[in-house]
Amino acid sequence: MKIAFLGGGNMAGALIGGLLGRGFAAADIHVIELASATRERLRTRFGVHTMAAPDADVRHSDALVLAVKPQQMKAALAPLAGALQETLVISIAAGLRLADIGRWLGGTGGPHTRLVRCMPNTPALIGAGVTGMYAAPAVDAAGRKTAERILAAVGSTLWVDEEARLDAVTGISGSGPAYVFHFIEALEAAGLAQGLDAASARRLALDTVLGAAQLALASDDPPAALREKVTSQGGTTAAALAHLAAAGWYDALIGAVAAASARSQELGEQFSQDRT
Ligand SMILES: NC(=O)c1ccc[n+]([C@@H]2O[C@H](COP(=O)([O-])OP(=O)(O)OC[C@H]3O[C@@H](n4cnc5c(N)ncnc54)[C@H](OP(=O)(O)O)[C@@H]3O)[C@@H](O)[C@H]2O)c1
Repeated sequence: MKIAFLGGGNMAGALIGGLLGRGFAAADIHVIELASATRERLRTRFGVHTMAAPDADVRHSDALVLAVKPQQMKAALAPLAGALQETLVISIAAGLRLADIGRWLGGTGGPHTRLVRCMPNTPALIGAGVTGMYAAPAVDAAGRKTAERILAAVGSTLWVDEEARLDAVTGISGSGPAYVFHFIEALEAAGLAQGLDAASARRLALDTVLGAAQLALASDDPPAALREKVTSQGGTTAAALAHLAAAGWYDALIGAVAAASARSQELGEQFSQDRT
């Protein structure tokens, strides 16, 4: 399978590293990247083909991954407008809607329709991401499989059946690592407040989050049952959870995700306002 990347930054680098680690051939990967230093880095690190502007190989790739910043996308797609026929186009750009990408990529025959939109998250940079994915109706099962194979190189994948659901994905897993980092920060600060040294507070906070997530993944019990198992009546955990409940922590998190999802929708609308 021949895969091209438009933009060779952080996310493209993570995906390329993941693909090579899964046995994809460097010779089958092409990267269009404006910055010459980044092109040089990609060649040295991965042995992939790089170029400053799309060539014929890119136009005939099986899949083209759009990995430039959302605000760079329209200009970056201009040289490819009308040039892609059957190529599956996979966007990882936050907020950009498929109707806009399809229009920017379209030619005299109308908009490009073989489109998949994805929302990965930053743990993808170490191969531990989760990506929400939506396929436009013109993408067949083979196209979905191709997109899934590419994104699976940096973690797990999950399909949603409506594009608008990617706003919820953004609110949960896209922005989610920041909530978890914030939780770790708070747990670490609590350790310091309880008299632990900084290194011990950080180790306890990090390994608690990691271990609890791994236990929840490995267990058949839902998280609520696991929580109940560590909460004996009148015990230490019960005291902590009562404090969190009184502070409205659970509802605050649900509100935070709603705020992120609403902002994702708003940003998508702003990008869409440029109808040209
Ligand atoms: N990082 C994340 O965790 C994350 C998570 C979810 C989604 N995403 C999405 O992933 C996409 C890429 O993010 P990133 O963090 O990898 O960004 P990035 O590191 O800035 O990479 C984008 C690269 O594309 C290059 N570029 C800009 N215009 C171009 C053009 N016309 N042709 C070819 N290359 C061009 C940029 O060069 P210059 O630096 O010279 O502009 C840069 O090297 C974004 O759309 C973002 O929304 C990222």
